[in-house]
Amino acid sequence: MKAAVYRSYGPPEVLKIEDVEKPDIGREGHEDRVLIKVHSASVNPFDNLHRKGYLPIRLSGGGFGRPNPDIQIMGIDVAGRVETVGKHVTGFKAGDSVFGHCLGSHAEYVLARENKLSLLPKNTGFQEAAAVPCAALTALQALRDVAQIRKDQKVLIYGASGGIGHFAVQLAKFYGTEVTAVCSTANLKWVKELGADHMIDHVRQDFNDLGRKYDIILDAVGKRTFFNSRGALLKTGVYITEHVLYPKYHPLQLLLASVTGDKRAKIHMSKTNAPDLEFLRDLVGDGTLRPVVEKCYPLDQIAQAHRHMDNGHTRGKIVIGVANGL
Ligand SMILES: NC(=O)c1ccc[n+]([C@@H]2O[C@H](COP(=O)([O-])OP(=O)(O)OC[C@H]3O[C@@H](n4cnc5c(N)ncnc54)[C@H](OP(=O)(O)O)[C@@H]3O)[C@@H](O)[C@H]2O)c1
Repeated sequence: MKAAVYRSYGPPEVLKIEDVEKPDIGREGHEDRVLIKVHSASVNPFDNLHRKGYLPIRLSGGGFGRPNPDIQIMGIDVAGRVETVGKHVTGFKAGDSVFGHCLGSHAEYVLARENKLSLLPKNTGFQEAAAVPCAALTALQALRDVAQIRKDQKVLIYGASGGIGHFAVQLAKFYGTEVTAVCSTANLKWVKELGADHMIDHVRQDFNDLGRKYDIILDAVGKRTFFNSRGALLKTGVYITEHVLYPKYHPLQLLLASVTGDKRAKIHMSKTNAPDLEFLRDLVGDGTLRPVVEKCYPLDQIAQAHRHMDNGHTRGKIVIGVANGL
């Protein structure tokens, strides 16, 4: 099968389309897996960090000098059709349209665990469905589980035009809160149309200087810190950063905040599970949650897709189209 493979760390050009072996569902250990013929798969900052070889990734099994040969195909979100299932799988059958989390979806076929998949949302194409898993799950779990979002709270989403951010705006509205979305000038209009009550252009204004206070500040892109956001945080508020992988100062700031006893600073790491995917599936299916796909690149333009993501100003999500007409 064809797959986008990287055999060394570096710029987008290290990504090559190669013929590799199709995943073997019959292998021992794959009894709970589902073999998916991939239709679409989104690109996440996670993929770009792997390609660039960020130190925390190299140190945590990514491969120190060169990428670990077991994970040289990128892609952690998938939407496609089930080709066959492992013998312990009970929830899916051949022919089902599914979406969810896996490793190696920038390829014609991928294996995913049954408990990290859901049936496709109704009235939704593979492209939109592929945009959902990582970004929307992260937004959902940050707001619902970490911040314990409640009706009528005031919520600020920083980085509201990105993958996580645009889902976070819509989810915060779903939970009945008053939402302030922060993004750059060019994105104000469409992010407002997602339902935000107030907009702040981060190019012109710093929300910390405006004298407004929030119950929840979700820094979806990690361009802020707890210390330069806390002026806008209520005493009972919560600041959450999603920025866990960059070797910058966020983890240290959060550590410092916890050492000084400020429990308002939280760092969040999402975990895929089927109930949350099914929850999102229903919200997408009934039109409450709208995945925004800025661009879909064919698999053989994977390097262009990474370059697009590298510029740091994606509007919503970038998706890779692997197959047509499934
Ligand atoms: N914790 C977790 O479990 C988890 C899961 C997934 C991702 N992440 C991390 O979360 C971060 C965001 O992921 P994502 O998929 O949402 O990324 P993304 O889609 O690439 O985010 C792009 C957005 O960032 C905004 N942005 C860029 N520079 C900005 C600035 N200086 N101020 C404000 N906004 C700025 C851009 O908005 P404008 O163009 O409007 O400025 C753009 O819309 C990444 O660091 C990723 O690694 C964490």
